[in-house]
Amino acid sequence: MIDIVRPAIDDVAVSLGERSYTVRVGQGLIARAGPEIAPLLRRPRVAVVSEATVAGLHLEALRAGLAISGITLEALILPPGEATKSWQHLQQTVEWLLAQKVERGDVVVAFGGGVIGDLVGFAASILRRGVRFVQIPTSLLAQVDSSVGGKTGINSPQGKNLIGAFHQPSLVLADIDVLDTMTPRDFLAGYGEVVKYGLLGDAAYFDWLGAHGPAMAAGDKGLRQQAVQRAVRMKADIVERDETEQGDRALLNLGHTFGHALEAATGYSDRLLHGEGVAIGCQLAFDLSARLGLCAQEAPVRVAEHLADMGMKRSLADIAGELPGRDALIALMAQDKKVVDGAMRFILARDIGDSFVTADVPRAALAALLDEALAGR
Ligand code: GLY
Repeated sequence: MIDIVRPAIDDVAVSLGERSYTVRVGQGLIARAGPEIAPLLRRPRVAVVSEATVAGLHLEALRAGLAISGITLEALILPPGEATKSWQHLQQTVEWLLAQKVERGDVVVAFGGGVIGDLVGFAASILRRGVRFVQIPTSLLAQVDSSVGGKTGINSPQGKNLIGAFHQPSLVLADIDVLDTMTPRDFLAGYGEVVKYGLLGDAAYFDWLGAHGPAMAAGDKGLRQQAVQRAVRMKADIVERDETEQGDRALLNLGHTFGHALEAATGYSDRLLHGEGVAIGCQLAFDLSARLGLCAQEAPVRVAEHLADMGMKRSLADIAGELPGRDALIALMAQDKKVVDGAMRFILARDIGDSFVTADVPRAALAALLDEALAGR
């Protein structure tokens, strides 16, 4: 038999005392899920929660990977899409895990993108007052962002991610191979979160993405692994400093105040994927920063050029269908979790790679920005 030599796995440590864990980034991790997960298990079985698209593509590979170590799996397959992050599916998941007799010492596996990771992590946080869970993120967005750092939750009709808990995973397996099966649209939506890292805190990473982003999108696995590893390292550093978002962690929400409002305005539907909202939101955050004189006009221009090079959505004009007016959008933004004492807080930028949190945004400037953005539709 020919031994296929795979590139090395990158291990990123997330150091949080007794809640520490490793994010493993590389190829072939699902194919050897058994040896990866076995050290965490008290008995050789796991309850896996996934969604129909991912399960159709990868569940048998996961089953085979676990079987290497004699681990069996039972799976709950939920519908794909943001609407699954709901009370209804949380209840279904928790009741199913109880019916599977998942005990305090067992491990639940979240096998899917950000929706599944958030929902299943939240279910694990409340099941029997908390059981351990493993994230196997299958989308770029989940690999670089949502699977790391322990934010879990569901959406409310009143806003995104308003119900949830901090619950760190015990292990994250970011298998670069699964990104091959993503649609170009989903991949680029996830890239919205990738570019966010360069914009919020690492200008050199933004430059690197400028040079390599298109080849990465075209399928280069070595570049994908480097991009994911570097984003996860940045996220881990921030989460280690501020696990429960008392300060710096809010920087990870660059683009999200606008993005979440746009997602709510489009009904959390296919009209706008989360990462697409983040990319448009990052652009608006840089536009607002320039409008307020906080950064040079060149910065939002460079953001727009890179998003255009990548073929990504970057303005309100790229969102199909009706959007509510400026005041309704501002009202949706005011539901953001970053609101303190009723004051909205924004992540703005002094430059690419230099962002900060502020509540000091005159409503008139925000209104003028949104008026201009809506007029461009
Ligand atoms: N996605 C933002 C965070 O994890 O803090």
